[in-house]
Amino acid sequence: METLFSGIQPSGVPTIGNYIGALKQFTEIQDEYDCYFCIVDQHAITVPQDKAVLRKNIRSLAALYLASGLDPEKVTLFIQSEVPAHAQAGWMLTTISSIGELERMTQYKDKAKDRKEGILAGLLTYPPLMAADILLYGTNIVPVGEDQKQHLELARDLAERFNARYNDIFTIPEIRMPKVGGRIMSLQEPTKKMSKSDSNTKGFISLLDPPNTVAKKIKSAVTDSDGIVKYDKENKPGISNLLSIYSIFTSKPIAELEAMYEGKGYGDFKSDLADVMVEFIMPFQEKYEYYMNSEELDRILDEGAEKARKKSFKMLKKMENAMGLGRKRK
Ligand code: TYM
Repeated sequence: METLFSGIQPSGVPTIGNYIGALKQFTEIQDEYDCYFCIVDQHAITVPQDKAVLRKNIRSLAALYLASGLDPEKVTLFIQSEVPAHAQAGWMLTTISSIGELERMTQYKDKAKDRKEGILAGLLTYPPLMAADILLYGTNIVPVGEDQKQHLELARDLAERFNARYNDIFTIPEIRMPKVGGRIMSLQEPTKKMSKSDSNTKGFISLLDPPNTVAKKIKSAVTDSDGIVKYDKENKPGISNLLSIYSIFTSKPIAELEAMYEGKGYGDFKSDLADVMVEFIMPFQEKYEYYMNSEELDRILDEGAEKARKKSFKMLKKMENAMGLGRKRK
């Protein structure tokens, strides 16, 4: 069976963008692969975090993974900082990364430009850590949203570089993106990606927003003034984004939705979409509460960390042997 790896940062509560780009994909293909899902807390600290909030978000993210429908008996769910090989391998891959290629990462450029009081080094060296996450497991496939494509390409480059320079130990991972919804946009600025760290909370729907807030956010989403429900990403980014979301949550093709709302205004469309979202979010949050209040959650994370430690340690030793670190071991 081939291996799948993916991760989400506990840097806030995941949005429906994270759900569509990541969590939904995970549940759809969990039976086809040996799956490793990671709560990447060491990535989250590349921007300053409040300690108590980070702790809360880590556990909460674990419950959200499970509420999305991952089967804990099948997949390995774990916290990055509980598996030391990630940071160790991340360092090794940092030493084969060039500053130039790291500076070219658009996510680095975006985040660096917002920081007035000096750019933290971790923001720059983040992609080799992400490459380590993936490569340690001999990963074949990485399901992510569109914004991670460039990081994935770098992970592939680093794997090839390591294989060529030291020893052919890494599998070159393939990226998997959703057909629709690889990039869900902000509800307030539909030309900007929906992000869990957006300061305008009306721009995103968090998976833990109360149902009436979800409905309100949909109803106040920015659209345009022509009132025609039609997919046109260039000229009508707001309604196109809502159409994508609607299509994903109902499995109805966009063309069918356009036909359904022909001659009707945005009011009807938004009101129906709000109902669809509320219907999704209520049982989802019930499952979330179940896991948050159950001892099962810590057991699942303990077992996940144990399994991940075993698997990643083997690759870490191969990496150290390949680079000549420490003493040779079998
Ligand atoms: P993160 O935490 O920003 O996002 C988690 C996942 O959600 C996807 N995503 C979106 N998809 C569609 N529309 C959006 N608006 C949207 N926003 C986010 C992301 O593409 C991602 O799949 N660097 C990663 C975490 C990471 C990782 C890894 C991922 C660390 N190591 C190894 C895969 C493999 C990140 O910051 O994701």
